Amino acid sequence: MHCIFKLAAFALAGLSAVSAFSGHGTQPHCNISSIVLANSLVTDSNGLQNLTVLVPPSNASLIQVTIGFGTQNYSCQSGKYVNVGALAQVFDISCIENLSVISSLLSSGINELELALPSVGPFAAKLATMGGFKLADHYFDTSSGSLAPVFNFAVSKGGFAIGKKLQDLPAPVNPQTNVDWLQLQAVAGDAAKFLVREQTAGGQPPATCATEGKNLEVPYAAKYWFFG
Ligand SMILES: *[C@@H]1O[C@H](CO)[C@@H](O)[C@H](O)[C@H]1NC(C)=O
Ligand SMILES: *[C@@H]1O[C@H](CO)[C@@H](O)[C@H](O)[C@H]1NC(C)=O
Ligand SMILES: *[C@@H]1O[C@H](CO)[C@@H](O)[C@H](O)[C@H]1NC(C)=O
Ligand SMILES: *[C@@H]1O[C@H](CO)[C@@H](O)[C@H](O)[C@H]1NC(C)=O
Ligand SMILES: *[C@@H]1O[C@H](CO)[C@@H](O)[C@H](O)[C@H]1NC(C)=O
Repeated sequence: MHCIFKLAAFALAGLSAVSAFSGHGTQPHCNISSIVLANSLVTDSNGLQNLTVLVPPSNASLIQVTIGFGTQNYSCQSGKYVNVGALAQVFDISCIENLSVISSLLSSGINELELALPSVGPFAAKLATMGGFKLADHYFDTSSGSLAPVFNFAVSKGGFAIGKKLQDLPAPVNPQTNVDWLQLQAVAGDAAKFLVREQTAGGQPPATCATEGKNLEVPYAAKYWFFG
């Protein structure tokens, strides 16, 4: 609880530059009432995991479906890369999320693109920025003494959400390449109450590292769902 209060205090103090705004930011320009997260989780055809644990409580309603592009950051500690944060730009895709290439094939599609064209993440981010539908910035705050994921919607005149992990599952496809799928609950901010990260592409570091203290930035993309 103490930690949560510290986070909340940070949110009020440290994020005062964005607290002029509140709420969810730009709303989708289409009717999203028929979009169901569970439909996006059916990629688990191997039956090894029940991915429905990622779905927030049924009284939480969907606000936006988004895609994030950026890097997961690591530092080499005792021969292993340890996550030290991430930096990503988050774009609204609510109105196209049900295209099958996005809803269930995003991860393999992006991995293939990244193999062919390593700069696809920044490239896609640039395209989306030009398209004018950037919704939020995602980064980590360390002022509470631990890594706290922040989603800052100031760019779309919304508030922010700071998350706490509720569920963490290995990606069902290529978990050594693709970062985990997650459900987060907001512990501060009013931009969302629950967040889900799925359809991840990239972001995992090599299994071992040789140079102590070496920093590594690994490109990744993921579908982020925001619920209020
Ligand atoms: C959105 O669609 C649902 C049915 O899918 C309908 O019940 C609802 O009235 C629609 N909302 C708006 C604002 O059109
Ligand atoms: C996809 O979603 C849009 C907007 O919500 C809707 O108009 C369209 O019918 C949906 N398409 C499919 C295939 O579900
Ligand atoms: C997955 O879990 C949910 C909720 O716990 C349950 O309703 C559903 O039947 C399970 N699905 C499978 C395929 O086991
Ligand atoms: C959902 O229900 C729980 C109690 O079961 C309540 O604490 C929570 O505030 C509700 N959330 C929303 C978004 O209404
Ligand atoms: C992560 O890497 C980005 C560059 O991709 C850098 O701008 C950022 O400061 C780094 N963040 C952390 C928490 O290490």
